[in-house]
Amino acid sequence: MLAQKRILLIIGGGIAAYKALDLIRRLRERGAAVTPVLTRAGAEFVTPLSVSALAGVKVFTDLFDLTDEAEMGHIELSRSADLLVVAPATADLMAKMAQGHADDLASTLLMATDTPVMIAPAMNVRMWEHPATQRNLATLKGDGIAVVGPNAGDMACGEYGPGRMSEPLEIVAAVERALGRGPLAGRRVLVTSGPTHEPIDPVRYIANRSSGAQGTALAAALRDLGAEVTFVTGPASVPPPEGVEVVRIETAREMLEAVEAALPVEAAIFAAAVADWRVASASDRKMKKTKGGLPALDFAENPDILAEVAGRGEERPKLVVGFAAETDDVVENATAKRARKGCDWIVANDVSHGTGIMGGAENDITLITGDGAEDWPRMSKREVAAKLAERIAEALGGS
Ligand code: CTP
Repeated sequence: MLAQKRILLIIGGGIAAYKALDLIRRLRERGAAVTPVLTRAGAEFVTPLSVSALAGVKVFTDLFDLTDEAEMGHIELSRSADLLVVAPATADLMAKMAQGHADDLASTLLMATDTPVMIAPAMNVRMWEHPATQRNLATLKGDGIAVVGPNAGDMACGEYGPGRMSEPLEIVAAVERALGRGPLAGRRVLVTSGPTHEPIDPVRYIANRSSGAQGTALAAALRDLGAEVTFVTGPASVPPPEGVEVVRIETAREMLEAVEAALPVEAAIFAAAVADWRVASASDRKMKKTKGGLPALDFAENPDILAEVAGRGEERPKLVVGFAAETDDVVENATAKRARKGCDWIVANDVSHGTGIMGGAENDITLITGDGAEDWPRMSKREVAAKLAERIAEALGGS
């Protein structure tokens, strides 16, 4: 997917530098050639030996290395790549880039290059939120530099918030996107997400605890692989991703209509927590408290959107993926659900109280396919999304 692509990877000095080692492997796995540059601070966190062992080539560290200059001058080094990636991009490196400093090899390469640049920032949350960093970020974006991340989460320094470097797979996806090489380039996919709201009257509704976080992360991950994503979302508590077509709905019936309008697609992923029932005769006026009685609500069954799409003949997407939110016998119930709904895969998760999954930042899933059940370790919803998106690309035969 990145065959014949040359990446110049600048590793800055932050604890996230360890992830740059995995990033090198992931890029090379996809056929890219990685030329690593380690800053002096970066070398405090990972050794030049590990970097060059993984990259399979020598690591560049010094601006005034006569041997390097004789073999390949720094100007040439900066231009012989298809993309320059800075990971981790520390607050200091970002400031240098924004100001145009050129006092070491990394900053000089960044100044001398005429190829596109991408940064993966990583720093303490306060440093990230500092007005100086935000100013530098705006400057860099204005200069046309692509930015991936940072993610929010627990940080090595013990704080919580945005500042964690994106995961290697997320950076790889952004690289592929920047180079127009995503395995899903030009493929249409659909993602449903969030809860639905089923009105009782104009002010009240039936809802559920879904935040829309997993569906949103999945839509972003599929977009990062180059897919054209239609994102049909209920009233979620997280904002929809950028770069996808967003269709906002409230009820299950509206969701079905929006899904049908988005067909045909190659893959459809149903991450929404759809209300199974609606109030049969929702009142168009506010229901008043009446003396001597509680209101009686009649329920009607909502359409099962997943089953409906999975059961389509000609318009059935090549890959239909459902989610199963379970509280007991997760694998048994989800396996039965896969058969009942006629979908290809089920992403099952345990949403019992105490797992912190519904509405939380992490997920613990079992992927159920025709080949059986695969238990994945607990990881962030973003990581689940990146892994799932890769699997979807494989299943669709991404080139
Ligand atoms: N789903 C759907 N339309 C519905 C209900 C569910 O598209 N009306 C989809 C969800 O998006 C999810 C899958 O079906 O991908 C399973 O949802 P879940 O709520 O776990 O299953 P239910 O069908 O509600 O089954 P049960 O209540 O027996 O758990």
